Amino acid sequence: MLAGIRVTYEAIIAGGTLVFIALVLQVMLGSRVIKLKGRLHWRVHRYLGYALVVLGAGHAIAALALLGKI
Ligand code: HEM
Repeated sequence: MLAGIRVTYEAIIAGGTLVFIALVLQVMLGSRVIKLKGRLHWRVHRYLGYALVVLGAGHAIAALALLGKI
């Protein structure tokens, strides 16, 4: 249980897959495999970067709750 939500193994796998897809997109933006026009490019990269930090931390906390460590 985390904040009243029951964390399941399937939810951790689904969440981790989504975080991984966002990370791949971020690396593709950073290395310009995906190109956006002008300032929008770095704006998307910056906010996706911050979102990744929050998503990654949330994924880790949920996984710790699943393992009964917190
Ligand atoms: C091969 C991978 C990557 C490359 C080549 C790359 C490249 C860059 C470059 C060139 C900038 C400067 C943009 C500017 O001039 O404003 C930048 C900014 C940034 N990158 Fe990446 N990046 C990569 C992966 C990542 C990843 C994995 C994350 C986060 C998890 C990330 C987060 C950020 C953030 C938050 C900024 C904004 C920093 C700021 O403007 O103060 N990047 N990146």
